[in-house]
Amino acid sequence: MKKKYLKFSVFSFFLFVCLLLYFTNRSYSQSKNKYMGADKCAKVCHKGKKKGSQLEIWKSKKHSQAYHTLGTEAAKKLGKELNLKEEPQKSKECLKCHVTGYGLEESNFTKDYKMEEGVSCESCHGPGSVYKKLSIMKDTKKFLANGGVLPDEKVCVKCHNEESPSYKEFVFDEKVKIIVHPKPEK
Ligand code: HEC
Ligand code: HEC
Ligand code: HEC
Repeated sequence: MKKKYLKFSVFSFFLFVCLLLYFTNRSYSQSKNKYMGADKCAKVCHKGKKKGSQLEIWKSKKHSQAYHTLGTEAAKKLGKELNLKEEPQKSKECLKCHVTGYGLEESNFTKDYKMEEGVSCESCHGPGSVYKKLSIMKDTKKFLANGGVLPDEKVCVKCHNEESPSYKEFVFDEKVKIIVHPKPEK
């Protein structure tokens, strides 16, 4: 009689642990921001004059071309000088600053992510699959609390530093003016 009871409680404890693991894991993967690509950011809010044309401004700047730049003759020449084993577009040594979220595990990306988008919104503002919700986006405090980033110089110098084979001096106040894309005044 006693033995049977023990067996039952061991079994139910086991079941309990399984369920616990299942639910914590599920809510964890739902609450984890993933990289989802610039089109999603645009679709939710950031396209068109009324919103501040963030997508259009980004597309007109070099960050959006950073992956394609690695396919140019200039990049290939640089790659040769550095004795890369593969083309720059396939080399970690170049991709780590020329695309968004390079080298992270697959679970950090949604199916919409495209490496070809180069240095996209989420390189600077953080991966956004969670904070993209309108109710979060409407409120800067909530945006920041859900992993969104309003980038400062520290974010830029992760890439704009002397490890870059074509490094040019980076003066934040000057450089940021070239890429600004503020929300329109209300
Ligand atoms: C993930 C890496 C990365 C981050 C983060 C990053 N950049 Fe860049 N940036 C690049 C690369 C790579 C290029 C060169 C792209 C090309 O020429 O194809 C570039 C180019 C630029 C240019 C030249 C753009 C143009 O159109 O003339 C400016 C200005 C610039 N970055 C400013 C910034 C500022 C300001 C920040 C921070 C708010 C920043 N970058 C953050 C990688 C990065
Ligand atoms: C190279 C880095 C970089 C990239 C790429 C980038 N941003 Fe930004 N973004 C910034 C910086 C820097 C600011 C100014 C932050 C501040 O106001 O403190 C900013 C500000 C903004 C703002 C205004 C935020 C506010 O509350 O005033 C919006 C909206 C925005 N970005 C959306 C986007 C979208 C959408 C994309 C892609 C299409 C994008 N950004 C790409 C660096 C970047
Ligand atoms: C540490 C980050 C970083 C790495 C690593 C990196 N780049 Fe870049 N790359 C940049 C940035 C930032 C720029 C924008 C110019 C600048 O200020 O350095 C850039 C610009 C370029 C340009 C445009 C040239 C120019 O003068 O604007 C080429 C071509 C290029 N990179 C090729 C490569 C190749 C090839 C590799 C790999 C061997 C590589 N990059 C590795 C950050 C990096």
